[in-house]
Amino acid sequence: MQTIEDYIIQHTQKEDPILYELNRETNLKTVQPRMISGHYQGILLEQISKMIRPERILEIGTFTGYSAICLAKGLKQNGTIHSIEINDELENIILKYFKKARIENRVKLHFGNALKIIPELKEKFDLVYIDAEKTEYLNYYITVFEKIRNGGFILVDNTLWNGKVVMPNQLNDKATQSIIEFNSYVKNDSKTESIILNVRDGLTLIRKK
Ligand SMILES: C[S@@+](CC[C@H](N)C(=O)[O-])C[C@H]1O[C@@H](n2cnc3c(N)ncnc32)[C@H](O)[C@@H]1O
Repeated sequence: MQTIEDYIIQHTQKEDPILYELNRETNLKTVQPRMISGHYQGILLEQISKMIRPERILEIGTFTGYSAICLAKGLKQNGTIHSIEINDELENIILKYFKKARIENRVKLHFGNALKIIPELKEKFDLVYIDAEKTEYLNYYITVFEKIRNGGFILVDNTLWNGKVVMPNQLNDKATQSIIEFNSYVKNDSKTESIILNVRDGLTLIRKK
């Protein structure tokens, strides 16, 4: 019998051929290809971005550039996406696909630790996508918060962490503990409104009031 996941994919718009190629190359050339957002989540990011129509996007955790290309599809004309990646060995593949997707003039790619780079950015962002080191999620959130305009949005990936956020005995697992701490912080943050979407590994949508 067909699974509901198969059905959902069959009835969701097709993956952009450039993103399909990027996904394949990521699988062939990187050590942890599973980090990529992929078809289904990519379409969701694209559609959320198209709803917001941001002028400035910030992505924390570029990897091979898949989600940056999806998010850039919603940018306003003359809009810019900043994307931060700590691993500069990914530069060739990222630039190759930014060019193929014709967004190379709309992306500002930064190599280095996001926690050092974010305070140096002068812009105010309409949309921020957090998808880097899980143990640093709360630090990214706190560091980036003042750079987001009132009414702006933050999307955060992997906030259900493979279901581990509700599993007992996760005290020695630093990533799970950090995600749990992050989720409670966001829930209790009176400066924002938020919802965890049960999409793939959990995607939190936060709006700065
Ligand atoms: C899950 S992957 C990002 C996937 C990407 N957003 C996508 O959907 O295709 C996480 C990335 O964050 C990067 N990263 C980890 N810690 C970082 C940091 N402190 N600053 C910037 N990038 C970081 C990793 O090297 C990795 O490429």
